[in-house]
Amino acid sequence: MADTTTPLETARLRLRPFTVADVDAVYAYHRLEEVARYQYWQPRSRDEVAAEVAKWLEHEAAAQAPDVITFAVTLNDSGALIGDMVLLFRDVAARQGEIGFTFNPAHAGQGYATEAAHAVLDFGFGQSGLHRIFGRCDARNTPSWRLMERLGMRREAHFREHAVFKGGWDEEFYYAMLSREWADLRRGAN
Ligand SMILES: CC(C)(COP(=O)(O)OP(=O)(O)OC[C@H]1O[C@@H](n2cnc3c(N)ncnc32)[C@H](O)[C@@H]1OP(=O)(O)O)[C@@H](O)C(=O)NCCC(=O)NCCS
Repeated sequence: MADTTTPLETARLRLRPFTVADVDAVYAYHRLEEVARYQYWQPRSRDEVAAEVAKWLEHEAAAQAPDVITFAVTLNDSGALIGDMVLLFRDVAARQGEIGFTFNPAHAGQGYATEAAHAVLDFGFGQSGLHRIFGRCDARNTPSWRLMERLGMRREAHFREHAVFKGGWDEEFYYAMLSREWADLRRGAN
């Protein structure tokens, strides 16, 4: 079983489990319209963020293999929390995972989300033994699909008007990466 308590370290970041003390830092960006726009939620109140973080803490406390792992993304130098990442285990038998990311726009444009997602893919394909990891986003969410392309994920699908999202038709991209593709990319990077 993957160790979900040991932080993941990167050059600039530490991805660690959430604590109750993180509520205000998460509220600082989950309250923003620009952050909620393409999510399945509306801008959150502080109470809603507290309830959400409480859910993440429950996942962390799950004794058996969790079906979701959340990561608080913090800066190495200041310890500031700049975003949250999630890895969902969607199909245990087929070892399929889904990645998700939400960052504070105050820290956008510096490659932090890419660096954090890289660590989560390493974790997912490494210790978690996943075979395929996918990510979904609204087709209008350019920063999100560009991030998945930077990671080397392939666009596998564009679902056109397949659902209703926040009062309009939903246009959704699916991106994915196989374990062996990630290994090839990592080998190329070394
Ligand atoms: C999706 C999201 C995480 C992407 O954030 P981001 O700031 O674009 O991504 P990064 O932190 O990886 O930064 C990438 C940018 O930094 C630049 N950059 C600077 N230094 C870099 C480095 N060392 N490595 C990689 N990129 C770097 C890149 O060129 C890129 O800039 P560009 O957008 O002008 O091309 C962010 O937009 C977000 O949280 N959105 C709101 C929530 C949301 O919609 N989540 C997705 C739901 S599906």
